[in-house]
Amino acid sequence: MSRGSRITGYGTALPERVITNHDLAETLDTSDTWITERTGIKERRIGGSTRSLAIDAGQRALQMSGLPAESLDAIILATTTPDRVIPATASSVQTSLGARCGAFDLNAACSGFVYGLNVAHGLILAGAENVLLIGSETLSRFVDWEDRATAVLFGDGAGAVVISATPAEDNALLSWALDCNGELEKSLYCDFGRFIYMEGREVFRQAVRIMVATCERALASAGLGTTDVNLVVPHQANARIIQSACERLGISEDQTVQVLSWTGNTSSASIPLGLADAAAGGRLRAGDIVLLVGFGAGMTAASALMRWEL
Ligand code: UT7
Repeated sequence: MSRGSRITGYGTALPERVITNHDLAETLDTSDTWITERTGIKERRIGGSTRSLAIDAGQRALQMSGLPAESLDAIILATTTPDRVIPATASSVQTSLGARCGAFDLNAACSGFVYGLNVAHGLILAGAENVLLIGSETLSRFVDWEDRATAVLFGDGAGAVVISATPAEDNALLSWALDCNGELEKSLYCDFGRFIYMEGREVFRQAVRIMVATCERALASAGLGTTDVNLVVPHQANARIIQSACERLGISEDQTVQVLSWTGNTSSASIPLGLADAAAGGRLRAGDIVLLVGFGAGMTAASALMRWEL
């Protein structure tokens, strides 16, 4: 490997409108106690478009990196909720940011951001200098607000990172693992014009299994163990999933980032939202080893081990 990649900036965007569990309990047969105990979610943000949230998060990430939009070679927009069927929402984000570069959507459901991180790294190894990776979602548009089994889970939001080329010795993406088991696709899907359907219990069970497996693969590939990891940024679907996976991996829950109590499940935006929260909150120091892990519809899973270098 003659070159490597590292994160040089991050940014987030969340809609202003907050919907609490108490708000939902006014129209649904549910309660704050049930939602909190079963998921860890207390409130979620709703509103905006996948495009508008992506632009805001992307602009902030570019600002932190100090790079102009013209320096981007590619924009990858991880989303499972594009604004239109065609063109890719990334096209609209590209022109609004003032970039002239390749731009495409990537749909790997809630694993999309980590899939995108690996694609960005690959582009950089192939010669790109700077890639903007955004995870942006407006799941509230695909939720049946009368279905308590799904309405309480999801939220809208976006998170972005700028990934830049480095000399090989400074490479920060240490290892990765991607997975997908299409046999499980019927447990979580959304058809055109319909709402999200999910077999919660089955997805929960499979999520823990696939999450642990993909983390173990990334760790083995880097020749590292869980004791080498300073912080885990898992997909934010359910605090109990994170807890179960951590127990199996032998990682303390204190070492995980959890933003889902105030964001809900924002699919491919959840990991960059968690990463930004940890970085802004002083939980990441230069040189720390961070394990990112996503899982979701497909059923997809993805993990990446990186050294934090900001
Ligand atoms: O990001 C993509 C991946 N998605 C996920 O990872 C989600 C994975 N699944 C989960 O997080 C959990 O399965 C849920 C949070 C969706 C559900 O929690 P659970 O502990 O698995 O509950 P359950 O589906 O087994 O339902 C238990 C009971 C049922 O009632 P009965 O049959 O025991 O009488 C449900 O009807 O809870 C009931 N229930 C609710 N009660 C109050 C389901 N949703 C609600 C609700 N409020 N919102």
